[in-house]
Amino acid sequence: MNVKTIAQIGGDGIGPEVVKQGRKAADAAMAGSGTELRWREFPWGAGHYRSTGEILPENAVEELSHCDSIYLGAIGDPSVKPGVLERGILLTLRFAFDMYVNLRPARAFPKVPIPIEGAAEKGIDLLVVRENTEDLYMGLGGTGDGEIDQIIEAKRGLYNLTGHVSMSTGHRMALQMGIATEPAVRRITATACGYARGRGERSILLATKANAMPHLYGFWEEIAADEAKGQGMAMETMNVDAMCYHAVRRPWEFGTILCPNLFGDIVSDLFAGITGGLGVAAGGNQGDGIGMFEPIHGSAPDIAGTDSANPLAAILSASLMLRSLGEGKGATAIERAVETFLNESDQDRLPKEMGGQAGTEEIGDSVASIIERDREGKQP
Ligand code: NAD
Ligand code: IPM
Ligand code: MN
Repeated sequence: MNVKTIAQIGGDGIGPEVVKQGRKAADAAMAGSGTELRWREFPWGAGHYRSTGEILPENAVEELSHCDSIYLGAIGDPSVKPGVLERGILLTLRFAFDMYVNLRPARAFPKVPIPIEGAAEKGIDLLVVRENTEDLYMGLGGTGDGEIDQIIEAKRGLYNLTGHVSMSTGHRMALQMGIATEPAVRRITATACGYARGRGERSILLATKANAMPHLYGFWEEIAADEAKGQGMAMETMNVDAMCYHAVRRPWEFGTILCPNLFGDIVSDLFAGITGGLGVAAGGNQGDGIGMFEPIHGSAPDIAGTDSANPLAAILSASLMLRSLGEGKGATAIERAVETFLNESDQDRLPKEMGGQAGTEEIGDSVASIIERDREGKQP
């Protein structure tokens, strides 16, 4: 028996609720395949932090490096200052394993209400390829209390010349730096080109804000254009604000969209909204080593503990995980089961997010049983 070890980090809020359903689907999909998933649960998140004071143990990265993949729910809790856990766990892991690709597909699934006229008939099937290690996410910056004084002083001098009010009157200030390096822009562009090719497309779309931030995003455009050319792929560019505008009017026209880290974060929630909700939006972080698969949504504290979370995003993230592990059959079994579930369900058996009444656990059980039924070749 082939064994794949999966590190399970449920995290906070609805994280553990949806991860439980994704695990059920993955186990059902792998049953009888010759590959067994062995799950190792890690308790990290707000509860662990509150009871132990520890965000991540020192050996966390070492422990995880012995696993084949990481499967995560969501990190973040209203009782903890924003950023402490998100940066301390989620971003730390993305960076520690150099997971430079964040794949965020957005598809219009059957029966899922699409809030844009005509979109359901025309179909939406796009892929956001988000750079995942740089940009404003690197954590470089500070609040002018020592760490960044030199940079601020240099800028203050410049702005004093122009009489810039806020810079010249000695207010407290904060700085967060966006970074782009040529190798990182090249590798993510090459990755986006590879996915676009796999989808039968001839071009990728790069969404940035080179007009307002030419240092950072002008550089992005220049390097990405050169890399795409070398990859034999055409590249269009669009300002990300305009892209959002077009996205809500004609989402069916989009294919592979390449974004720097921050814009990729934002537009992927936008596309989730367009394709029926955060509860169906799957994601995966990948690099050259192990990957981490997680729905793109957060811990949703507003609905945690109410059996209302839609677990389909987590279930579809488990499918992305299986595909990355070379288990294409299992991955497809999950995807098909999600489609069947949506097709077969009457309105009231759909997730609450879609106007139905089905609870988290009930949806997870339905998807797992469809996977089992399909495997046994039985009809309903
Ligand atoms: P969120 O994604 O948690 O919630 C946004 C809205 O979408 C909420 O109304 C929520 O109820 C709804 N929603 C999200 N997932 C859903 C699902 N599966 N089913 C039904 N409804 C769903 O975003 P937020 O409110 O900005 O963040 C809450 C916390 O989660 C914060 O601490 C944030 O930092 C964290 N967060 C973590 C991740 C992650 O771990 N990858 C991602 C985003 C946010
Ligand atoms: C996401 C989240 C994270 C991000 C936060 C929680 C740090 O929004 O996974 O989309 O910005 O990447
Ligand atoms: Mn996000």
